[in-house]
Amino acid sequence: MADVEHTIGLLLGTEDDWPRAYEALLRRLGIVTGPDGRSHRVGSERVTIEPFNLRDKPRHELVIDRLAYWYYHPREWLKKISLMDDVYLLNSPFTFQSMEKHAAYCAMIRLGLKVPETVLVPYKNPLDNSRYAYTAARYNKEFDLDATAAQVGYPLFMKPYDGGAWVGVSKIRNSDELHSAYDASGERLMHLQAAVEDYDVFARSLTIGPETMVMKFRPEQPMHARYEVDHGFLTADVGHEVVTISRLVNAFFRWEFNSCESLVRGTDVYPIDYANACPDVAVTSLHYYFPWAMSALLRWTVFCVVTGRKPRLDMDTSRYFAIGDDPSLSYAEKLGEYRRLADEYFETERYEEFCDKHLRNVDAIVYDWVTSEEFRSLLRETVRATYPVHEHEKFLGHFGGLIDAWVRDHS
Ligand SMILES: Nc1ncnc2c1ncn2[C@@H]1O[C@H](COP(=O)(O)OP(=O)(O)O)[C@@H](O)[C@H]1O
Ligand SMILES: [Mg+2]
Repeated sequence: MADVEHTIGLLLGTEDDWPRAYEALLRRLGIVTGPDGRSHRVGSERVTIEPFNLRDKPRHELVIDRLAYWYYHPREWLKKISLMDDVYLLNSPFTFQSMEKHAAYCAMIRLGLKVPETVLVPYKNPLDNSRYAYTAARYNKEFDLDATAAQVGYPLFMKPYDGGAWVGVSKIRNSDELHSAYDASGERLMHLQAAVEDYDVFARSLTIGPETMVMKFRPEQPMHARYEVDHGFLTADVGHEVVTISRLVNAFFRWEFNSCESLVRGTDVYPIDYANACPDVAVTSLHYYFPWAMSALLRWTVFCVVTGRKPRLDMDTSRYFAIGDDPSLSYAEKLGEYRRLADEYFETERYEEFCDKHLRNVDAIVYDWVTSEEFRSLLRETVRATYPVHEHEKFLGHFGGLIDAWVRDHS
């Protein structure tokens, strides 16, 4: 028996691979002795969707949410348990609902990041609202789409202001493409964004709490081959910058499980997409990096519940903007200051000390699990559920080989 029992809720959609992995690792972790000297056991439970009284007390101390960005009943449940019961959430439904990609561009531009030129254009088609015709006739200013695009410059990307999963994203090279993409945008609100051309590398970083993995990403490849295993594809300085940008975005918006996409050209880092409420962590995407992601998720969530870390809903934007607005600071100095604020928000030092003292065995637990039959069957079942029958052999070999490489590198 542990002195303290904690329950983590998993709010899930269609995924089964990482939840099974996470559940298995929590079971294997067993009892953790906390800094308070007491024994803690952390269990998990999949959240079900049902009527809830606004005065109900939830069983969970922390919820990992993978659903609320499109499924509204559980979203409202998350808001309730956050506002009323101080349940710790990965991620905050408040900022993800109100601060989507567009707001993230705005805030990061003010903070001095190299966000490409971006313009928001009005809807192509009328909104389904009886007041639209009157309002549009009175206030919608005629605009010249070609002139707007010319300001941004070709090639450019047209993409939804709140986008995700590449839906509705197109690369535009000329006026014809511009008009056909805009006509097709219908009732989706679109950005025009200057393309970062001839970049050297696409860095995609997954951040969980104060841990970040920067991975080399190849968007032109099919899903299973997008993340390339490469440990030295960025210089130390650029790597540090990519990590700082990722942590800055997360600390600023209180996002604790998020992926950030940056295009690197020479020594310049251009962040292009960094508001992902539900970042891809499928074993069939992350493969080699999957054990890292599970370790980080395990360590951060256990740290939060065992130390009783308090959720922070307020955004503290003025401290960030004071740095961003200060003309005496260089870009590098600003990044240094942002890194300091992010470390403060994530309690990076206290977290590292906690991992060092109380979660020493996590690496060994993860290693044992990755080399176990339990993990192999998880991989087999995921491959079978993901690909057509004639591709099972090929993908089992592909992912099996990448996992073997992880095992070799970590034995
Ligand atoms: N400004 C840009 N410069 C170059 N490539 C871009 C740019 N914006 C988007 N892309 C390409 O389009 C893809 C999808 O755009 P992104 O903004 O990431 O949308 P989503 O939120 O749907 O993932 C990116 O992964 C990248 O390959
Ligand atoms: Mg993207």
